[in-house]
Amino acid sequence: MASNKAVISTYNKIAKVYANTFSNPSEHMDEFLKLLPENGKVLDAGCGMGADSNYAHSKGFKVIGIDMSEKMLEIARGNNSNVDFRLADIKNIKFAENELDGVIASFSLIHIPKENIPKILRRFALFLKPSGAIYVSVQAGESKEIFIDEPLAPEEKLFLNIFSFDEIKNILINEGFEIIYQHKRSPRKKELPFTKLFIIAAKK
Ligand SMILES: C[S@@+](CC[C@H](N)C(=O)[O-])C[C@H]1O[C@@H](n2cnc3c(N)ncnc32)[C@H](O)[C@@H]1O
Repeated sequence: MASNKAVISTYNKIAKVYANTFSNPSEHMDEFLKLLPENGKVLDAGCGMGADSNYAHSKGFKVIGIDMSEKMLEIARGNNSNVDFRLADIKNIKFAENELDGVIASFSLIHIPKENIPKILRRFALFLKPSGAIYVSVQAGESKEIFIDEPLAPEEKLFLNIFSFDEIKNILINEGFEIIYQHKRSPRKKELPFTKLFIIAAKK
């Protein structure tokens, strides 16, 4: 089984260069945030350096950003001290039922073994209010779990979980979501060499 610890160690090493390379908020974030109630409560799960957390905060949302990389969180906290950034694991983060309005999981589920993903999404569905929604982006293509050279630090082997297009959508549907928006695009320079799939789904 792949170790999430190794992934976190890689992100601790590449935090600065990652934050400088991918400093913009995620694509399609406006389409997602406009579904949520004003001043709603949003979890950014695997927030990294907090670009999406900061953006959602600038739009008036109360944001909790969680990550397991201390170095990523250091950068995130330095960028915005008004966001509640916490060292916590996506696999066992806890909220009350119906506590959240939105969950962002931007390229974070890709580092977690597939066997854990249905349970994580089931728990997110539980934490979301009935009107809640989730934003998920993944590396997509032929379904597999692999170790790949991290483009920003080729000596680092990164565990990656590639979803087929239907696979991630079906997991979301099975765990209580309805897909309301999806977009895919080809990889760009400095990105991992897989198609990017962006999904917005509402709690059913
Ligand atoms: C590709 S980066 C994405 C960062 C940010 N969401 C973005 O879109 O730029 C993946 C992030 O997920 C974090 N991560 C990986 N596994 C995690 C886990 N089990 N719990 C919390 N964060 C995790 C990593 O530390 C890293 O910051």
